[in-house]
Amino acid sequence: MHCIREVEEDIFWIGSEDRRLELFENLFPIPQGVAYNSYLVMDEKTVLIDTVDYSVGRQFLENVKYVLKERKLDYLIINHMEPDHCSLIEELIYKYPEMKIICNTPTVKMLKQFYSFDVESKIQIVKEGEAFSSGKHEFQFVMAPMVHWPEVMVTYEKTEKILFSADAFGSFGALNGKLFNDDIDIEKDWLPEARRYYTNIVGKYGVQVQNLLKKASEIEIKTICPLHGVIWKSNLSYLLEKYDKWSKYEPETRGVLIVYSSVYGNTENVVNALAHYLGENNLNKIEIYDSSNTDVSYLVAKSFEYSNIVIAATTYNLGVFPKISNYLEDIKRLNLQNRTISIIENSTWVPGIVTKEVKNILSEMKNMQILENTYAIKSSSKEFEYENIKNIGNEIIKSCK
Ligand code: FEO
Repeated sequence: MHCIREVEEDIFWIGSEDRRLELFENLFPIPQGVAYNSYLVMDEKTVLIDTVDYSVGRQFLENVKYVLKERKLDYLIINHMEPDHCSLIEELIYKYPEMKIICNTPTVKMLKQFYSFDVESKIQIVKEGEAFSSGKHEFQFVMAPMVHWPEVMVTYEKTEKILFSADAFGSFGALNGKLFNDDIDIEKDWLPEARRYYTNIVGKYGVQVQNLLKKASEIEIKTICPLHGVIWKSNLSYLLEKYDKWSKYEPETRGVLIVYSSVYGNTENVVNALAHYLGENNLNKIEIYDSSNTDVSYLVAKSFEYSNIVIAATTYNLGVFPKISNYLEDIKRLNLQNRTISIIENSTWVPGIVTKEVKNILSEMKNMQILENTYAIKSSSKEFEYENIKNIGNEIIKSCK
C-alpha cells in the first residue's frame, strides 16, 4: 500500500521509516528509528529528489509507482550519494529506463564506484548555480561539499521556495505520521535527536556548514525538506540559529556536563558530591552521564550543548579508562571547540596519568580551557578532601556566569 504525503501542490514526500535498525551507519543507536525522506515532483517532467535506504526500498518503489500513476519517471536528482539515500538507483533504472540522473561531477565518480550500470549514458551534470526546469518548477543547484560527504549538493526549488537540503537540517527518529515541524513539540521531540544527529554525523564539518548557511541566507526559503526527519515550513529562524551555533561550536547552555567512569563507585561518589555542591549553590544546569552505560553519541551531543565539561576518569591499564578515552577521541575528531574543562582523576597505583593524558588530548583541540582546580583521588575520597569539591565547584560556577 502507498504511504505518501503532499508537501506542496504536485510535490510529494514519498519516503519511509525504519524502526528495526538498531545502529544507524552501524554505529549510532536509534531507539526512536529513522526516516529516509525522498520527494517526487509531478510537473511536465517528473522529477525524483534522492532515493532511500535499501531497507525501506519496497515501500519507496510502491510510493513512486503510486504517485506516477501511468507516467514515466523522467529525472532523478542526486543530492547525496551515501547509500542511505542512493541505494535504490539501480532498481529505478530497471523500472524507468528512460530516467536521466541529474548530479554533479564528484557524484559521477561515486556512482561508478557503487554501481555497475552504464553511468555515462544516464547522467546530466550540473554545476554550482545552474538551473533546470521541469515545466512549472525551476530548480537551482547549490554545492555543499562535506555536509556531509564531498559530493553533497542541495537543490533549491524556486517556484515554491523549497530547499531540498540533503543531510542538513535532518534528525534521527521516525516520523510517526508527523511530517511537519508544526506537528511536534520541537524542544522535546526534535531537538535532542537532531542535536545528536548533527553533532555525530556533520559535527566535524562546521566550516562547511557555515558555508552552506551563508549561501542559504542569500536565497528566500519558505520550506526546508531534509533527507531525514521533519520538513520545516515555519520557524525556520529557530532551525537556522541552532545550525549556526552548532557549526560555530558555540555552547547552547551555560552549565555543566559531567562525564565519568567509575569501576567501584569511588569516582562516582565524588561526581555526586560535586553535582550537589553545584546544585546547592544554584547551578542547576547539570547533566551527569556514566560513560560505561551511555553510548558515546549521546555524550558527544551533550558536549556540544554545554559550556563546561567535567571529565572524571579512573586510571585503567596505566591509561585513561577506555570509555572515557573513546569519548575524548570522538569529541576531538568531531572538532569540538570552545569548552571549559575540569579534570578529576582516580588512581590507586600511579597518580597523574589520567590528568596528563586528558590534557594532551585537549591540547590538540581548539580553544579548550582547562580550569585550574582538580582532584586527584587516591582510590577513594576522604572527608578532609572536601575542599577539592568546593574549589572545583566554585571555579565552575564562576566560569558558567
Ligand atoms: Fe543521510 Fe550522509 O547520509
